[in-house]
Amino acid sequence: MRDVLVELEKRRANARAGGGEKRIEGQHAKGKLTARERLVVLLDDSSFEEFDMFVEHRSSAFGMEEQKIAGDGVVTGWGTINGRPVYVFAKDFTVFGGSLSEAHAEKICKVQDMALRNGTPIIGLFDAGGARIQEGVAALGGYAEIFQRNVLASGVIPQISVIMGPCAGGDVYSPAMTDFIFMVRGTSYMFVTGPDVVKTVTNETVTAEELGGASVHCVKSSVADGGFENDVEALLEIRRLYDYLPLNNKADLPEIPVHDPWDRQEKSLDTLVPDSATTPYDIKEAILKTVDEGAFFEIQPDHAKNILTGFGRIEGRTVGVVANQPMVLAGVLDSDASRKAARFVRFCDCFGIPILTFVDVPGFLPGTSQEYGGLIKHGAKLLFAYAEATVPKVTVITRKAFGGAYDVMASKHLRGDINYAWPTAQIAVMGAKGAVEIIFRKDIDNPEKIAEHAKTYEDHFLNPFVAAERGYIDDVIMPQSTRRRVARAFRLLRRKELANPWKKHDNIPL
Ligand code: HXC
Repeated sequence: MRDVLVELEKRRANARAGGGEKRIEGQHAKGKLTARERLVVLLDDSSFEEFDMFVEHRSSAFGMEEQKIAGDGVVTGWGTINGRPVYVFAKDFTVFGGSLSEAHAEKICKVQDMALRNGTPIIGLFDAGGARIQEGVAALGGYAEIFQRNVLASGVIPQISVIMGPCAGGDVYSPAMTDFIFMVRGTSYMFVTGPDVVKTVTNETVTAEELGGASVHCVKSSVADGGFENDVEALLEIRRLYDYLPLNNKADLPEIPVHDPWDRQEKSLDTLVPDSATTPYDIKEAILKTVDEGAFFEIQPDHAKNILTGFGRIEGRTVGVVANQPMVLAGVLDSDASRKAARFVRFCDCFGIPILTFVDVPGFLPGTSQEYGGLIKHGAKLLFAYAEATVPKVTVITRKAFGGAYDVMASKHLRGDINYAWPTAQIAVMGAKGAVEIIFRKDIDNPEKIAEHAKTYEDHFLNPFVAAERGYIDDVIMPQSTRRRVARAFRLLRRKELANPWKKHDNIPL
C-alpha cells in the first residue's frame, strides 16, 4: 500500500512539474505565473480540485510518442471564489506552448459540460499557441468541440476568458465566444495569426504588441473588456467581477451585505450638471454616488469612452449601469459606443441583471465616417438590445436626451419601467441651435431673430416637463435623491414579470 501511495505522489509531482523547471523559469522571467500558480490566486485557499492530471496526448507524429507530459498542457477542475463554485481551466504554456491536442480538448470539454449541466460559470486562463501542429485535424476538431460548447453555454452560464500570454488561433476564437475577455498588459497578445505569418502573407512588419496587445484590444478593436498590469492584479480583479455575477440564467442575483444606507442623500449631485449646456461633467460621479459604497466594476473602460458600462450594486444586489459620458465627445452615440453598450445590455438581460441607465446624450454622431462605418446598423444594436430586454430598467435623464438617442437610451417607449429626469433634463428632437436653423431657415441671416427663436425653443422644449406632461417621465427628481429613488424603484421591480413573444431567437442587426 505504501508503495502505491508513493507512486501516486510521484505521478502527481511529475504532472505538477509541467514542462519542467527551465520552462517554468522562462515563464517567470517574462513576468508570468504558471497555470497552477494562477489558479492559486484566482480561487479560494485550498478550494481547487483538479481533474484529469494524468491525461496524456495520443499522438505519434514527429516523435511525439517520446514527448508525453501528464496533464497535456492544460490544468482543469473546479474551485470556489468567495465561497461560490466555479469551473476553471488554465493553459500551461510550459507544455508544448499550451497548444491544444485532442486529449487536451477533451479535458476542457469535460469541464465545459460539467459547468453547463450544473449551472455554474466557467473561467478559462489562456496562454497558448492554438492548435497543436503535430496533431493536425484532431486538434482542429478538438477546438470545434470547444466552440460548440461555448455557444451552447452562451446566455446560460457566465463564461470569462483571461488572456495571460501569447494566444493564437483557437485560443482567441474560443475566448471570442465567451462573455468577457480580459488581458494582461505587456505580456499577453491575441491574434488569429502571429507577426511571422503576417510578414509572410502581407509583407507587413508588426510587433506582437502592435498586432494584438492589450493596447490594441482594450482600446481600438474592443475585442477585450479590460486590461490589467500583471497576472496577480488580473486574477484578483476577476474575483471582484465574479462577485457581481449570478451563477446562471435562472439563479438569483448574488446578495452582498452592505452598510451603505439605501436612502443616502448626495447633496453634491444637485450641482453636478453645469449651468452651460455645453460644459462637460463627469457622469461617473453620479454613478459612484448612486451605487453601494461607490463600488463599480467597469467593462471596457478604455474603449468608446463616450459611454460607460459596468456593474455596481444597489441594496447589495447587482445592477448593470450604462451611462453617456459628457466628458468624451459630449457623450454622443457613435458606432463604437452603441456596440459596446448593446453587448453589455444583452449580457445583463441574459442573466437577469437589472439595468440602470444615466442619459445625457446629444444624439447620434453625424458624418461620413460614421455612416460609411455602418452607424445605422450599430446604433440599431443598442436600440434592439434595450427594446428586447425584459429585466427591470430604471432610467435617469440628467441633461440632454435628444433625437433618436432619447428613444434608444432605455426610454419609456422601449419598456423602461421607471424613468426619472433631473430638473436639468432637456428632452427634445435636437438642441436649440440646430432646431431653429432648420425650422426658421428663412431667418438664417438675421442673428437677432435666430436668437429670439432659439430662446423660445429653449423655454418651450429644453426642460423635462414636456415629456413629464405626457407621462414619458414618471417623475422629475432632485439629483440628491437619486440613490433613494433608484433603490426604491429596483425594490419595486424585484417581482417584475415580462416575456417576449416565443421565437427561436431574434435577428439582431449584426
Ligand atoms: C505545437 C507549439 C505551438 C503549436 C507553440 N508551440 N505553438 N507547439 N503547436 N501551435 C511550442 C513551440 O514549439 C515551443 O516549444 C513552445 O511552444 C513555445 O513557443 P515559442 O514559439 O518558443 O514561444 P513564443 O516565442 O513566446 O511564441 C508564442 C506563439 C508562437 C506566438 C504562440 O509559438 C506561435 O506563433 N505559435 C503558432 C501559433 C499558431 O499559428 N497556431 C495555430 C493556430 S490555428 P519548445 O519545445 O521550443 O519549448 C488554430 C486553429 C483553430 O488554432 C481554429 C480557429 C478557428
